[in-house]
Amino acid sequence: MTNDSAMRAVVFHRYGAPERLSLQRVPRPVPGDGDVLVRIVASTVTRTDTATVRAHPFFARLATGLVRPKMRTLGMDFAGTVESVGRDVRAYRPGDRVFGLSPDHFGTHAEYLCVPADGPIAPIPADLGFHAAVVGEGAWYASGTTRHLEPNQSCLIYGASGAIGTAAVQLAKIRGAQVTAVVGTRHMELVARLGADRIVNYQAEDFTATDERFDLVMDAVGKTSWFACRPLLKKGGIFAATDLGPGWSNIVLSAWYGLTGRRKVIVPFPEDAPGFIRQLADYLADGRFRGVFDRDYPLEDVVEAFRYVERGHKTGIVTVTVGASD
Ligand SMILES: NC(=O)c1ccc[n+]([C@@H]2O[C@H](COP(=O)([O-])OP(=O)(O)OC[C@H]3O[C@@H](n4cnc5c(N)ncnc54)[C@H](OP(=O)(O)O)[C@@H]3O)[C@@H](O)[C@H]2O)c1
Repeated sequence: MTNDSAMRAVVFHRYGAPERLSLQRVPRPVPGDGDVLVRIVASTVTRTDTATVRAHPFFARLATGLVRPKMRTLGMDFAGTVESVGRDVRAYRPGDRVFGLSPDHFGTHAEYLCVPADGPIAPIPADLGFHAAVVGEGAWYASGTTRHLEPNQSCLIYGASGAIGTAAVQLAKIRGAQVTAVVGTRHMELVARLGADRIVNYQAEDFTATDERFDLVMDAVGKTSWFACRPLLKKGGIFAATDLGPGWSNIVLSAWYGLTGRRKVIVPFPEDAPGFIRQLADYLADGRFRGVFDRDYPLEDVVEAFRYVERGHKTGIVTVTVGASD
């Protein structure tokens, strides 16, 4: 491999602990006719990455590879500059600043990534830095739930301080909903800044001990359950979960209610990543959406980043610096 055809990437060949990840030199991807080759400046380490390296839950292997991982490099978010484009691409030119998601093939913990020009990629708004643009993963997952909200409906977001929760608060407000955010003491100011109408401190009070009833209750952190939240729902209200729930109850109940045609429990999977990223670019440009950031790690320390993220207590997003910004 010449220097021009090689790049640094974080690679893993077997499922397991983050120590399976190592920084290696691998071939640089070559853009097809409709692709954009992005030189990545910033990425993130997410709960999707930490779950995928461990193949958790086990059935995720159906998508990621039964015995060994099909994709060798993790990472869903990217922000960087266009290095080159395929001959059919008109929307982007070398040097453009872009951000987006790689939800199907991952691969953003690497210096270069190929993305279809009509895929989940958009220009970074002028006043935003690269690290401020790696906001896709949590927001995309949150959008699977918040798209069920209508203006003036009420929602309660449990665990509103993580990547999905901080995005859910902002997307719910954009949809015109009334938001009650449940967070710990250290995150109360943060969710007030994000626009929450009411804030409940889960470390000081029982969030289920209220007379208020909601159109939607979202467990954004996998730490409550349908059984605890059911009394909080209005008639026809929905419980939306981001995790399996105790004894996989969220999966079982969403399948059951799906079969009976009564939509009470959902484990929503987000849709239309390209459309969502373009919409997110608009929200970032007009300031209606801003990422909430925790720590940044250099690519060399990605194992440390995985260890930190999988503890489950980060605030918003953990970023990774992949390359220089100039
Ligand atoms: N399987 C997958 O591929 C996948 C992908 C994405 C997300 N998810 C799931 O989606 C959920 C959210 O992901 P995320 O990235 O947004 O999580 P995250 O960023 O790791 O969320 C952690 C946040 O939740 C708060 N928290 C922790 N324990 C809490 C509790 N008992 N009550 C209320 N808040 C609590 C933490 O603050 P404090 O501890 O300081 O209060 C922290 O700010 C996770 O359960 C994750 O497993 C799964």
